Amino acid sequence: MNTRGAMINSEQRNIIDLVSAQVRTRFETDGSGHDFEHVQRVFNTAVHIATDENADVFIVSLAALVHDLGDYKLSADGKENHRDAISAVLLNCGVSADDCHQVIDIVEKVSFKGNAVLDASMTTEGKCVRDADRLDAMGAIGVARAFAYGALKKRKMFDPDSKPAVHNSFDAYQKNEGHTINHFYEKLLLLKDRMETASGRAMAEDRHQFMLHFLDQFSGEWSGLK
Ligand code: ADP
Ligand code: NI
Repeated sequence: MNTRGAMINSEQRNIIDLVSAQVRTRFETDGSGHDFEHVQRVFNTAVHIATDENADVFIVSLAALVHDLGDYKLSADGKENHRDAISAVLLNCGVSADDCHQVIDIVEKVSFKGNAVLDASMTTEGKCVRDADRLDAMGAIGVARAFAYGALKKRKMFDPDSKPAVHNSFDAYQKNEGHTINHFYEKLLLLKDRMETASGRAMAEDRHQFMLHFLDQFSGEWSGLK
């Protein structure tokens, strides 16, 4: 992985490698678009943004690596438990309690909670990770991940009779079982305007345009017009 390591010392690099190896083992078998390759892409993008933002690259690296540990979308009981899952890995790899708290605080605020729910305020490091995670839900990879996730949850690709919904709470967003095209209107197309870093905003622009083009083509093919 590329840590663009000027600000990373050798001890920190060793810790990042250890954490990375543990996360890889945990996500090796995922089929929901939350596989280790997703983690690697978020890591690389987050470090790239962190360098531009002059953020603490060590904290950003750790938070990017563990950001999906304990996520409700991946847990057997559907409940979120970032704190325990993350502390177990980080403390075991030699991360200090203070750094561990910083990372958990970031991860608890990364996830999208609904189109009518405001994002929690973040530190600069948190903004880098949240933008990077959201960028991976956009563009060509975002399209691929949305349909991978939809298939895993046995959702329809599209149903013209079912319109996008407004989600006023995280609970409503989580319980939603709509078709995958709705997910674009309920989340993916909103991400561009929720970017909080300059480089995140710039990258989001192209990915957003790509999704609009995809949706236009999809709709044309659906109705037999294209
Ligand atoms: P977040 O942290 O905002 O929850 P993640 O990075 O964990 O985001 O994962 C979001 C991914 O899961 C996105 O790429 C998205 O495509 C997929 N996803 C989540 N909910 C749905 C859904 N209802 N339909 C299709 N894809 C979904
Ligand atoms: Ni993620």
